[in-house]
Amino acid sequence: MTYGLSIRPRVLVNVSRIDMSTTILGFNSSAPIMIAPTAMHKLAHQEGEVATARAAAACNTIMALSFMSTCTVEEVASSCNAVRFFQFYVYKRRDITALMVQRAVRNGFKALILTVDTPRLGRREADIKNKMIAPQLKNFEGLLSTEVVTDKGSNLEAFASGTLDASLCWEDIGWLRSITDLPILIKGVLTHEDAIRAVEVGVAGIVVSNHGARQLDYAPATINVLEEVVLAVQGKIPVFLDGGIRRGTDVFKALALGAQAVLIGRPVIYGLAAKGEHGVRRVIQMLKDELELTMALSGCCHLKDIARSHVRTGHERLQSRI
Ligand SMILES: Cc1cc2nc3c(=O)[nH]c(=O)nc-3n(C[C@H](O)[C@H](O)[C@H](O)COP(=O)(O)O)c2cc1C
Repeated sequence: MTYGLSIRPRVLVNVSRIDMSTTILGFNSSAPIMIAPTAMHKLAHQEGEVATARAAAACNTIMALSFMSTCTVEEVASSCNAVRFFQFYVYKRRDITALMVQRAVRNGFKALILTVDTPRLGRREADIKNKMIAPQLKNFEGLLSTEVVTDKGSNLEAFASGTLDASLCWEDIGWLRSITDLPILIKGVLTHEDAIRAVEVGVAGIVVSNHGARQLDYAPATINVLEEVVLAVQGKIPVFLDGGIRRGTDVFKALALGAQAVLIGRPVIYGLAAKGEHGVRRVIQMLKDELELTMALSGCCHLKDIARSHVRTGHERLQSRI
């Protein structure tokens, strides 16, 4: 990602000690890196989300658990003391959403992440070709079947269209706030108009996300719209970013453009598939090491030292030549 963005390093700064620690919604984190919610970790490793959560705890980072997890909310909560946020969708059966939110609250999850870019599932051609079927997710046992099979296209899409509430709109944030006191982040904002609306309805934060480019073709790269969102919210709520974070330099660029922290999706699944909990730890550690080095080489000792002037966009370079 971040094609066209370059880093403007500052020199002769005492960088003998680098501190990457931060707080996210008031919770300590060793670095501004969180685990993004991704579905069905048992497809990558038999220990599933429990292994991911343990890695998050070991690295002192925050994990967002997907609504579509293969381990239950309770299993993940009792496996370790990681700070956990809970991602959720609003289903047509709102009683199921409310029940899941209550289970997250009961099990010590600290914040909720409502994913808002999925009124319908994007057209995922690989899922159609592979005839992907979701396993029966234990969280929903006794509530609904997730193993939907259809002879028309994607099984996953058939499940999603039967469950997701496409009528969800801004007014419903009030309903969500009436069923929980936990802070609610909304994930999937890509425009300043929606960022302003999010502040108005009182959410606790925004995740600039295009769902890892799995929903709308031609949605922008998140790094390219981050600043638009940051400027719109005027510091009233924190802004986070996910999508394409693969290197510590990517984290640095996102912070320079105003993100408070980033979330990582696929790298975590790759680490999990390769080596379970240990693999996820390695992924997080590599990103942290790279961020620390980037900060040192850019003249930043603390996250607050990373400023807008540390990056230059391709557009700005062009402008300076005119
Ligand atoms: C396999 C996979 C499953 C995902 N499942 C979910 C999900 O259940 N809920 C959700 O809000 N986002 C989901 N996402 C999107 C991620 O939260 C995140 O936005 C995206 O992966 C970030 O991009 P990255 O993979 O480049 O880091 C999923 C992404 C992937 C790749």
